[in-house]
Amino acid sequence: MDNALRLQYLEAMGIDVWVPRAAPAPGRDEQLLIDNAAPETAALAPADHEPAHPGPDNWESLQAEVAACRKCALCETRTQTVFGTGNKQADWMVIGEAPGQSEDLQGQPFVGKAGQLLTEMLRALGLARDDVFIANILKCRPPGNRDPKPDEIDACHAYLQRQRALVQPRIILAVGRIAAQALLKTEAPLAKLRGKVHTLDETPVVVVYHPAYLLRSLPDKRKAWMDLQLAMKTYTEG
Ligand code: URA
Ligand code: SF4
Repeated sequence: MDNALRLQYLEAMGIDVWVPRAAPAPGRDEQLLIDNAAPETAALAPADHEPAHPGPDNWESLQAEVAACRKCALCETRTQTVFGTGNKQADWMVIGEAPGQSEDLQGQPFVGKAGQLLTEMLRALGLARDDVFIANILKCRPPGNRDPKPDEIDACHAYLQRQRALVQPRIILAVGRIAAQALLKTEAPLAKLRGKVHTLDETPVVVVYHPAYLLRSLPDKRKAWMDLQLAMKTYTEG
């Protein structure tokens, strides 16, 4: 994206162009040392994750299972599955709703118009796409971008659980209402979910507006920046 457009996005979000980069937080190695020093604080594997195979989970088998998955009807209409992308040892895990048309065609999450704004939102946090791991609740596109159905979310749930267990992020950004509700197993509206820190298996979860919504709703861009600031504060203080 050219620089002028990038600045336009940031300004539209109410972000001052001179916004300072976030203060550096402890690196992952330091964090591992801290965890090793205090084994009782080590993160537990998600309780409801039952791998379909014996032994420790790994990215290769998970990725292959997703690529071949036919657990819900979306397998009939997808072009391809969209597994997720980024740093497999990221501190930050970004979880969206489901692939849209561009994602279904390219096999990557958040690559369409909304994806470009998400990339800018991350950049405003001092993060590149490659710094974070990005995935969706659903790995296949719902036809016509309709909302995911509960049975599809249930069918796909274990894959995201396994991705979370493999990445072991220090913070999760839930992008939009559908992702937040599915992740936190709640029907609360977005207005009730954003602005506070939730937890999922001891990992902090911050809910942010979906960039597709922000593209339509200019007034909420200021609040979107507040969401990002809450996420950064949670990460640096966590
Ligand atoms: N919206 C999402 O929630 N996820 C994507 O991957 C693209 C758009
Ligand atoms: Fe499988 Fe998930 Fe795709 Fe459904 S959406 S077919 S559960 S990968």
